Amino acid sequence: MSSSTVITNIAALVTNDPSLGDNSPLGLVRDAAVVIDGDRVAWTGESSKAPATDNRVDAGGRAALPGFVDSHSHLLFGGDRTEEFNARMSGRPYSAGGIRTTVAATRAASDAELEAGLTRYLEEALRQGTTTFETKSGYGLTTADESRALRVAARHTDEVTFLGAHIVAPELADDPAAYVALVTGEMLDACAPHARWIDVFCEKGAFDGDQARAILTAGKAKGLHPRIHANQLSYGPGVRLAVELDAASADHCTHLTDADVDALANSGTVATLLPGAEFSTRAEWPDARRLIDAGATVALSTDCNPGSSFTSSVPFCVALAVRDMGMTPDEAVWSATAGGAAALRRDDVGRLTPGAYADLMLLDAPSHVHLAYRPGVPLVSGVWRRGARVV
Ligand code: NIG
Ligand code: FE
Repeated sequence: MSSSTVITNIAALVTNDPSLGDNSPLGLVRDAAVVIDGDRVAWTGESSKAPATDNRVDAGGRAALPGFVDSHSHLLFGGDRTEEFNARMSGRPYSAGGIRTTVAATRAASDAELEAGLTRYLEEALRQGTTTFETKSGYGLTTADESRALRVAARHTDEVTFLGAHIVAPELADDPAAYVALVTGEMLDACAPHARWIDVFCEKGAFDGDQARAILTAGKAKGLHPRIHANQLSYGPGVRLAVELDAASADHCTHLTDADVDALANSGTVATLLPGAEFSTRAEWPDARRLIDAGATVALSTDCNPGSSFTSSVPFCVALAVRDMGMTPDEAVWSATAGGAAALRRDDVGRLTPGAYADLMLLDAPSHVHLAYRPGVPLVSGVWRRGARVV
């Protein structure tokens, strides 16, 4: 029999269940408690009504919320791109081409080096409250290098994405059609067994709409579910293609027409916003307010990668989204938890209600609003993952 624990004396608990507490989307319960049984949440509500348990933890008046669901990262890579970042901050623009630098370094890395990097960024993220994460290949671009990245990733998460279509492999730069044939053929066959998702960077300098459609359709036929890097650097067909193919998520969504916003609002495709990328490339912010007001579901994630967004911190992204993308603190916290879960089509994470995984964090603050109010401060003071205290 599993043992039960109550975390009590929580000043403000985000459940993401609108039937609880203040009945807002966050389902905010004051003076709350959470009961964990094994790896799951057994009960949430007011402290005074908590059932008896084997163990008791006093949260000391801290805020609690579901662990962050970081639904977009690129953590399998070698080397870093400090020089490129430095040059960019001196005025050089960002382009898809920088990915080549990381491809060379990733091909040169051993499996052990790739896994050590992944583990390091995961530990960083966990300390900052991330309990579920998605990660992608995309810096190997050969059958062997893509499939080994996915095999390493699958040892750490169920949310693994095949991104062979990140850019055309440098050795086939003159023959993009041959690279698309490789990605949809031999490479897909080798990669599909190790992944849940397939992604394409649909952008000038990467893949156009027709290539992206061919790649995602081939992935679907092999049982992978689509998600797309769409409309990051320019307007384009990515968002509408995501909706057409019922992708779980269209990611970036920085350059959107009214038709793109309408398409997202009337679909089951989540708009995943990645403010770390706009921060680190000094680009225009995505307009979260416009998407939310139109009725789209918005997720917030890190896009952690060595080129355009080298942060593993969801709290940092929450603060940026509130300050610069028109989100309220409540919306940003929802998007980084329940929104991320929606972008991964998961209902067992991103909420603290009976039956969900007991993935949660305590903040050294009385309210989740402090994540945006106190930017850059390490507020996460305790993390439980699958019912076990890990931080
Ligand atoms: O999400 N957009 C494409 N991929 C990454 C960038 C990767 C890189 O620059 O290495 C992104 O921003
Ligand atoms: Fe990305």
